[in-house]
Amino acid sequence: MTLKPNIKIAPSILSANFAELGTEIRAIDAAGADYIHIDVMDGQFVPNLTFGAPVIKNLRRYTDKVFDVHLMINTPEKLLNDFVDAGSDIITVHGEATAHLHRLLQSIRAAGKKAGVALNPATPAESLEHVMPLLDMILVMTVNPGFGGQSHIPLNDKIETLAAMIKDQKRAIDLSVDGGVSAENAEGLIAAGANVLVAGSAVFKGGAEHYAENINKLRG
Ligand code: DX5
Ligand code: ZN
Repeated sequence: MTLKPNIKIAPSILSANFAELGTEIRAIDAAGADYIHIDVMDGQFVPNLTFGAPVIKNLRRYTDKVFDVHLMINTPEKLLNDFVDAGSDIITVHGEATAHLHRLLQSIRAAGKKAGVALNPATPAESLEHVMPLLDMILVMTVNPGFGGQSHIPLNDKIETLAAMIKDQKRAIDLSVDGGVSAENAEGLIAAGANVLVAGSAVFKGGAEHYAENINKLRG
């Protein structure tokens, strides 16, 4: 199989050892991660809690790689400044979690960050039609967000629709897939138009000595 250099792998630290997050981030950086995918959960928008901006701020010194921050929190506009100050590079919010998505995307960009929107499996691609000019990333959730290790929901038709919408914009927008991504389904996701693969379980399985091999399998 040929390597596809334009594909970015974004290990989700949700599957890392939370007592050793700094060490884990160094390990996935050395193993060839392109983005570091950071899942923030509030126990409200999703039925699970992780951590907030102070943890991200402390992790910033462990790598220079892109911090791809996935906010699974209600009314993310209330905490936006904290995630900006923590050193996020891409800030992705859920369209389902705010009443004023357009304004929020403007605010993220005004803060000098890249703006992303994540879509739950039930949310249609077309919901992004009127915010496409404000987007740097679209994150297609292929599980219902909240937990790592869930079964992948095949939504390749939605990925294809979004890839076509991105093409119409005539500029680069990352098309990322998150949830149950594995070496088995990666090729189909890339064929549908994804250029960023988020993976928790598939990267962190087997311990640090396997991270590079796990990342390479996703790229292959
Ligand atoms: C789920 C998170 C994902 C999760 C993916 O709500 O957004 O980033 O960590 O984990 P896997 O790859 O195990 O499905
Ligand atoms: Zn995520």
